[in-house]
Amino acid sequence: MTASPSTEIAFDVRASADPVPPAERERVLASPGFGEVFTDHMVTLHWTRERGWHDGLVQPYGPLMLEPATAVFHYAQEIFEGLKAYRQGGGPIVAFRPSANAARFKRSAARLAMPELPEAAFLRSIELLVSQDRDWVPTAEGHSLYLRPFMIATQRGLGVNHPSSSYQYTVIASPAAAYFKGGVRPVSVWLSEDYTRAAPGGTGEAKCGGNYAAAFAGQIQAVESGCDQVVWLDAVERRWVEEMGGMNLFFVYGSGPGARIMTPALTGTMLPGITRDSLLKLGPDLGFPTEEDRISADQWREECASGELTEVFACGTAAVITPVGKVKSADGEWMIGDGTPGPVTMRLREELAGIQYGQRPDPYGWVHKIC
Ligand code: PLP
Ligand code: COI
Repeated sequence: MTASPSTEIAFDVRASADPVPPAERERVLASPGFGEVFTDHMVTLHWTRERGWHDGLVQPYGPLMLEPATAVFHYAQEIFEGLKAYRQGGGPIVAFRPSANAARFKRSAARLAMPELPEAAFLRSIELLVSQDRDWVPTAEGHSLYLRPFMIATQRGLGVNHPSSSYQYTVIASPAAAYFKGGVRPVSVWLSEDYTRAAPGGTGEAKCGGNYAAAFAGQIQAVESGCDQVVWLDAVERRWVEEMGGMNLFFVYGSGPGARIMTPALTGTMLPGITRDSLLKLGPDLGFPTEEDRISADQWREECASGELTEVFACGTAAVITPVGKVKSADGEWMIGDGTPGPVTMRLREELAGIQYGQRPDPYGWVHKIC
């Protein structure tokens, strides 16, 4: 066992004695899918009231041993993050804005009454896992290593008058191709009118597992209606477009030099996406004025019909930038533009991916070198 360099919260490293053989790893990396195969190691770190964060360990990937009475199984006190490590052609392996994920993880923890993990420990856990499993970072264009840090309540007992008194933080990693199969293919979306994702005062802006559990019924409806993804409307008026199952939305108005982009303003019920934030900064640099405003489902339909609204795309770590081609609701369906990926969508996608893969300058210092 070797100790990691000094940080406030220390991690030991226990390397796997039985890593996946290189030939098998290469076979997986040739076609990694999304979130299906995991690397040789994981990071674990524990918290108790008495000891704070302790026992940080990089160890072989494997099952967690938890009693059935463990709090997370009953009351879903769980939060997670999603970020990626990219291999920059022949150069370093980097992460994209991991400090922003660390900050959001802290905010999610506060909302779920969980202990906050210091940013330095979050970053260190990512760096250690990616360095340990660097051979798992894909080389193919558009592929990356998806990192999934999460925290669960580990107290044993069914009492619900107080949050858990102990927690486990874990990071796992999975080589990833495109989230949606078939390359940059426009997706179709279903406007959910039966279900809502998040209400004011709820947990919509936290990245907690419960938000996703509650979203499956809407996602099933979307698929049954022939669509790829569900789009959520606000829970109060059931009118304003919020976001998708795992992505934020952007609306492109006009075209050519007159194009501008709009994304729904954060109201407390949407996840503040790091990709969303990055595009709000990159848009103006590329000549697209950006705004945060709101759009109703009716407006979406009318503005597509009038030709004012020319493109719509979804964005997120897993989905990168994915064009939306068609919208469907209980009242009917409509196309966005001609249903194919639009030039503004593709320009933003190219720029963002260019920064992540080191082919474009990184004017905001978003790229964090790992090894
Ligand atoms: N909205 C939801 C509900 C998500 O799960 C995600 C994915 O993390 C996003 C938006 C996009 O966030 P980010 O760009 O930080 O990945
Ligand atoms: C991400 O993009 O990181 C997400 O969390 C989306 C989804 C896989 C839940």
